[in-house]
Amino acid sequence: MELIRRPRRLRRSSAVRELVHETDVRVTDLIYPVFVVEGEKVKEPVPSMPGIYRYSVDMLKIHLKEVWETGIRSVIFFGVPDHKDACGSGAWDEHGAVQSALRMAKECFPDLICIADICLCEYTDHGHCGIVRDGKILNDETLAYLSKAAVSCAGAGADIVAPSDMMDGRIGHMRRSLDEAGYEDTLIMAYSVKYASAFYGPFREAADSAPAFGDRKTYQMDWRNKKEVIVETQLDIEEGADIIMVKPAMAYLDIVKTVSDRFEFPICTYSVSGEYSMIKAAALNGWVDEKAVVMESLTAMKRAGAGMLITYYAPQAARWIREG
Ligand code: PBG
Repeated sequence: MELIRRPRRLRRSSAVRELVHETDVRVTDLIYPVFVVEGEKVKEPVPSMPGIYRYSVDMLKIHLKEVWETGIRSVIFFGVPDHKDACGSGAWDEHGAVQSALRMAKECFPDLICIADICLCEYTDHGHCGIVRDGKILNDETLAYLSKAAVSCAGAGADIVAPSDMMDGRIGHMRRSLDEAGYEDTLIMAYSVKYASAFYGPFREAADSAPAFGDRKTYQMDWRNKKEVIVETQLDIEEGADIIMVKPAMAYLDIVKTVSDRFEFPICTYSVSGEYSMIKAAALNGWVDEKAVVMESLTAMKRAGAGMLITYYAPQAARWIREG
């Protein structure tokens, strides 16, 4: 055949494929989520996420050493408190699990980037991400509480605070509160585009944060929509966000692409608990090649435009990247 164009020439050998390949996942792109509990000597498995545990701070110190040795340089902490109340006061408790984890991590691993997820749902007795009155999640009243949590975590050493509540105006409120408290160097990673997703199921078991009534659809986004992606992102940037997050990741790569095409801004994706559990379950059954499926998914997120990748697979992926 007289074929001038033969695209297969670019795939003819592994050496040629290495030469022309476009997208790489680097170990330093990876951010590892960690659940922290109160108490001592706790390393408790999360049943719906095989390989993931809830750690007390002393056990976390041992685990973070292993994580650091894989080359991972960023972690995001989620607190699982013993006591909950109506306004989530555990979120700004100086001796809370996350605050203690932050102090330990900054002391033992000073160059580890420590991100604190900021939300009320793990800390409220009703499990909603805001203050509740007459069955409604109040927006403006919630902002001061979130900011208190952010200032508390910044004070404990967080390099980055990451509000995941989806209240309107929280980035601006938080930026002002951080600045007033003298934390103008603390970054804000905004969960700007966060959908009301069923993929968060295993997380809610891990963090004991399922809403006691109703759902999160009055604050998290409707997954049938994409126009509001622009509004949410634009507002967070105007209000002072430093990094934009899109969440979940795998079923939302079109959204990652939209945000990355539209905004010249650092973008992070969160490959959430349900994504981890699905791959893990299939892998444990021997139905998929775990390493291949994980690396393909993470690469797709970068290809779609994300620079940073939050994934429960981070330590394993770091080892796989180093193995080549
Ligand atoms: C807290 C929060 C959630 C997740 C991250 N921060 C749960 C939720 O919104 O219900 C989900 C993360 C995951 O599923 O891995 N608001």
